[in-house]
Amino acid sequence: MTDIHKSVQNYYGQELQQSSDLKTDACCSKAEIPLFIKDILKKIHPDVIAKYYGCGLIFPPKLEGCRVLDLGCGAGRDVYILSNLVGHQGYVVGVDMTKEQLDIANRFIDYHTKEFDFQTPNVEFHLGKIEQLTDNPNLKVNSFDVVVSNCVVNLSPDKKKVLQQVYEMLKPGGEFYFSDVYADRSVPEELRQNQILWGECLSGAIRESDLISDALDIGFTRPILVTQQPICINNQQLQDLLGDIKFTSCTYRLFKNKSIEDPIISDNKNGTLVTYQTPIIHYENEFQFDQSIIFKDQPQYVNDELTKMLRISRYNDNFKFESVTHENEIPKSTKQVSNCCCRQGTC
Ligand SMILES: C[S@@+](CC[C@H](N)C(=O)[O-])C[C@H]1O[C@@H](n2cnc3c(N)ncnc32)[C@H](O)[C@@H]1O
Repeated sequence: MTDIHKSVQNYYGQELQQSSDLKTDACCSKAEIPLFIKDILKKIHPDVIAKYYGCGLIFPPKLEGCRVLDLGCGAGRDVYILSNLVGHQGYVVGVDMTKEQLDIANRFIDYHTKEFDFQTPNVEFHLGKIEQLTDNPNLKVNSFDVVVSNCVVNLSPDKKKVLQQVYEMLKPGGEFYFSDVYADRSVPEELRQNQILWGECLSGAIRESDLISDALDIGFTRPILVTQQPICINNQQLQDLLGDIKFTSCTYRLFKNKSIEDPIISDNKNGTLVTYQTPIIHYENEFQFDQSIIFKDQPQYVNDELTKMLRISRYNDNFKFESVTHENEIPKSTKQVSNCCCRQGTC
């Protein structure tokens, strides 16, 4: 166990008792919550809600029946929301290294099973480090459709190792969908040594350029930025230490690549027309794939990289794909969308 792990364990196990004990607003989400999630939140036990320290919403569409793994699940708020979203046919596993957090999560398994009207629980929690998932006897490689995480990767001293472990856990084509804290530049070493700033999810903030290069190295598709919000520190003393480093809370999606023989992609020299044809529950009118790409029931022209992401993913069945072999086949009314990920100007 590294000093960082010990200090983070102490911060989330002893120092903080509830969300309002945080010294900054970095790990507390201001993201707008959709109505259907608000309805589920009403069923979550208040003791679990009180210990929520997330910085975004980690609920991608089409979760019904999925096996989901939540990294750094804490007291379990998101695991229980996901439990409801995957339904009784799905399953959610939470992993966290802090016993005090998991004690709360475990205490309310029966409560939520009853609240959601399930015969048996569809969640379990395990103590462990997210850098060592493959060593955890409770977890099987290639067994999860979706891996999520809320404000945790920044706290790891070895973020590339975490990404590698996520890759191992996902089925081919599976999605890693996570919210975390990002910095627009490297955080100086003396600030990285500050345990409060680390525990508050600031000193270990991720660089977007590192995420992209690590992900591509490991074999993920290019990370897609889904949402981004500025973080206000709201603590003058800590703000003075941090100077003008800008922090944002971002949600990214990336897929575990798989090779497919696909006429849609290989025959295709000029992109693809993609139509959101079979709507997903709660996303009846549109599917927001990234910050600027919103799929609707009208054909949109997309590049091969993005087409492949959709084709290998569980979203494939919800779209109609039409290869474009000549530029003049592109209807004038369609908007060209690409998947540029460089929102913060760092890559
Ligand atoms: C900011 S809290 C977020 C908790 C939870 N995701 C939520 O939204 O409430 C960070 C959590 O990650 C856990 N954690 C941090 N680093 C970890 C690691 N390397 N391995 C496992 N858990 C870790 C901490 O114990 C803590 O519960």
